[in-house]
Amino acid sequence: MLNRLESQSPDALLALIKLHAADERPDKVDLGVGVYRTGQGDTPVFAAIKAAEQLLVDRQDSKSYLGPEGDMGFVNALMPYIFGSNATMGGRIAGMQTPGGTGAVRLAVAMAHKAGMTRLHMGIPSWPNHAQILGDIGMPWAAFDHANPDGTANVEAVVAAIRGAGPNEGVLLHACCHNPTGIDYSAEDWDAIGDAIAEADVFPIIDSAYQGLGQGLEEDAAGLRSVLAKVPEAFIAYSCDKNFGMYRDRVGAFYILADAEAAGAETLDKAFSNANALARASWSMPPDHGAAAVRLILRDSDLTAQWIDELDQMRERMRQVRARLAEAGTAGSVDLTPLGYQNGLFSVLPLSKEQVVRMRDEHGVYMAGSGRINVAGLTMDNIDKFIDAVADVTG
Ligand code: LMR
Repeated sequence: MLNRLESQSPDALLALIKLHAADERPDKVDLGVGVYRTGQGDTPVFAAIKAAEQLLVDRQDSKSYLGPEGDMGFVNALMPYIFGSNATMGGRIAGMQTPGGTGAVRLAVAMAHKAGMTRLHMGIPSWPNHAQILGDIGMPWAAFDHANPDGTANVEAVVAAIRGAGPNEGVLLHACCHNPTGIDYSAEDWDAIGDAIAEADVFPIIDSAYQGLGQGLEEDAAGLRSVLAKVPEAFIAYSCDKNFGMYRDRVGAFYILADAEAAGAETLDKAFSNANALARASWSMPPDHGAAAVRLILRDSDLTAQWIDELDQMRERMRQVRARLAEAGTAGSVDLTPLGYQNGLFSVLPLSKEQVVRMRDEHGVYMAGSGRINVAGLTMDNIDKFIDAVADVTG
């Protein structure tokens, strides 16, 4: 039976981790998978997380099962950060814990599929795993342009795709720090996108994986909140893997926004029961540890302040790297100035696959085949080497 299976190539992004690890050049540069790095190139555990983990060791008295919805204290404590002061939007939001943001995206797409969504519109390029998840669940999808060649958002194309969507169709949006382009929408753009979604009656799925890494915790949630204020229903996939540095602990959440009118509460309960059933059939229950640590942080004002301070430092370092790249102006034929106004861990350089391979083979610089770089992999020690390498392969 197993002979019938076709082999699958390893995930290209995750394969880079191994390739980079096997490279013995001491000055190699890892700009591949999206993890934050300090100016020394480390990805440390947040001090706030260490403190919360210690509290867990001291206080946790059981590891008995919680249920498919996971740690509801965690789910509720996150809501004001995501949705603002009216965190449940008048009782219209219900959420559950998921294994990472990926688990939340998967649940969102599976729920949409089950509820009869016939097609999802997605801006490309997008996080490659989005297409893999859609393919695996069997959700048809259509691509629209998201980015202009000058590194700004192509909002006209986004709005046109939404307005052109048929009945029972949805749109997948990145809340902030777009992966891979780093191109975020302005407040006016979000306004136009929200209006288009509401008027065309399209179902939004919003993926928020980098809150706080772009402009700030509140600023990075503003677009999502402006869309949710205009629409009757939505799904939100949330990840704490980056903004709490929990990567391998897989800390995420899935939220449902349901219609306030008609059978609002009943609709929300029904939808939540479906999310519960899907979670049970997929992973039964999410892993507890990371979410419990995040809950402890968000329920303690000192730990919360410490976490926000650590997040601010991450964001500030990335802004400095971006500013430095933008200051360089050009590297060979590549204009680096858009990196200064883009956000988060990622930006895409217009390099061919061959040029990406030359970056790796000739210069020891590891980046995704799409030309995506993780700017957090750059430090004041390797940034000039990186700029020279780009100049060399494109010059
Ligand atoms: C990335 O895009 O590098 C991250 O989101 C990690 C992942 O799971 O792909």
